[in-house]
Amino acid sequence: MKIATIVGARPQFIKMAPVSREIRKKFKELIIHTGQHYDYEMDRIFFEELDIPKPDCHLGVGSGTHGYQTGTMLKKIEEILIQEKPDLVLVYGDTNSTLAGALAGAKLGIKVAHVEAGLRSFDRSMPEEVNRVLTDHCSDFLFCPTETAVKNLHREGINDGVYLTGDVMVDSLLHNKEIAESRSGILDELGLKSKEYIVATIHRASNTDRKENLESIVNAFCEMEEIIVFPVHPRTKKYLKKYGLFDKLRASVKLIKPLGYLDFLKLMNHAKKIITDSGGIQKEAYILKIPCVTLRENTEWIETVEDGWNMLVAIDKDNIIRAIHQFQPSSVKHKERFGSGGAAGKIAKYLAE
Ligand code: UD1
Ligand code: UDP
Repeated sequence: MKIATIVGARPQFIKMAPVSREIRKKFKELIIHTGQHYDYEMDRIFFEELDIPKPDCHLGVGSGTHGYQTGTMLKKIEEILIQEKPDLVLVYGDTNSTLAGALAGAKLGIKVAHVEAGLRSFDRSMPEEVNRVLTDHCSDFLFCPTETAVKNLHREGINDGVYLTGDVMVDSLLHNKEIAESRSGILDELGLKSKEYIVATIHRASNTDRKENLESIVNAFCEMEEIIVFPVHPRTKKYLKKYGLFDKLRASVKLIKPLGYLDFLKLMNHAKKIITDSGGIQKEAYILKIPCVTLRENTEWIETVEDGWNMLVAIDKDNIIRAIHQFQPSSVKHKERFGSGGAAGKIAKYLAE
């Protein structure tokens, strides 16, 4: 069987690494990179660090509006699928690259497999929610990270092809945690001591694109006395500059470039707390048992909140400061809600059946 893996954005490289290792034992893999992310530290660093094979095709689509980006990907992916005739298209997560890959495959009558199927924030104003729902509804194999995800699919009438595999990000984290501990010198490089700093990441459109929201977040960070380390996503950098907030933030927090996975994993593992609006980081904080404050009103990773390790906070300066200061996990409840590793192996096994 020939599998076309379609990826393009940072979290997809981290998700595909363990799956690619497994599927290459049994199948032929063709990697199609849409080019959605293209800066070295959003893209190539992950291929190098995580030993992901070089993409076979690079579409160079880059940035743009949702319609431009998704449409251009769709057109270019279709051309390659017609030429390469894979038996299956494999997509990850909820980005525009995910939707374009799934649609291109489905319209050509090629089977589609979705890793991280069934996630729902129930917020259709979030571009990723539209991508998730549409991708799931044109997929033949739906690999779910959690029981909640399985239930979400059943509620939408999707029953065939649904597999509970656990989360492939657990595989990545378990594979790399000790490697990160021994190889990464990020704490020394930044002059940080374990458990004496907070890590922050922000990149959701709802937080970056709206000036009042971004300003509330910046003001909250600037008023806090704790050391905050903030690897800045390029989208966030663009809007911080556009709204004249970049220099103000830089004066109060440690603003750094986005990090590679090993440095970021080590930085999270030694943090006192994590502040984020990232999907993946909420989960990684849970797995690493680091209290997490999420600057969003909803989450598709509801288990992290249910178990008391993650707190959702509406965007308001005082709310944010209070939450960061006061939030402590409400219980010691900590289960393997995202599986215990081995998700990639299960995916390869189900595809082989
Ligand atoms: C995308 C995904 C989001 C995911 C995130 C992971 C969609 C709709 N969004 O958001 O779900 O959580 O990736 O990080 O697919 N830019 C650069 N260099 C890059 C990439 C982007 O400068 O390498 C800048 C550009 O100005 C671009 C902006 O960031 O316009 C946003 O990039 P885009 O890929 O559209 O969305 P993300 O915010 O990265
Ligand atoms: N990450 C990273 N370097 C950073 C920030 C995040 O390697 O500077 C990793 C993080 O550990 C997680 C993934 O990127 O595995 C999350 O990606 P992102 O927050 O961009 O996207 P989301 O998960 O919200 O879709």
